[in-house]
Amino acid sequence: MAMVVTGACFGCKYTDCIVNCPVECFHEGEKMLYIDPEECIDCGACVSECPVEAIYYEDDVPESMHGFIALNAEMSQKTPSITEQKEPLCS
Ligand code: F3S
Repeated sequence: MAMVVTGACFGCKYTDCIVNCPVECFHEGEKMLYIDPEECIDCGACVSECPVEAIYYEDDVPESMHGFIALNAEMSQKTPSITEQKEPLCS
């Protein structure tokens, strides 16, 4: 199990979430962030940091957003790690 970044992140990338991550499991895509499910320890520290509530525990991802579970697993392997906060895409 892991935390999952979902659609609300797309086009925003606030990156508040990465600050409290103890295992640096976030990866940065062009439009959104992804969590590596192999590295995530399910601590949940990132969930409350996201201003648009984009992060869910895997079991709690709404049905309409289930595609993001596989997308995080796939894209976290294809994108670079991100460990420092940066300016968001949206305001
Ligand atoms: Fe995205 Fe929210 Fe993090 S918008 S970058 S999941 S703080």
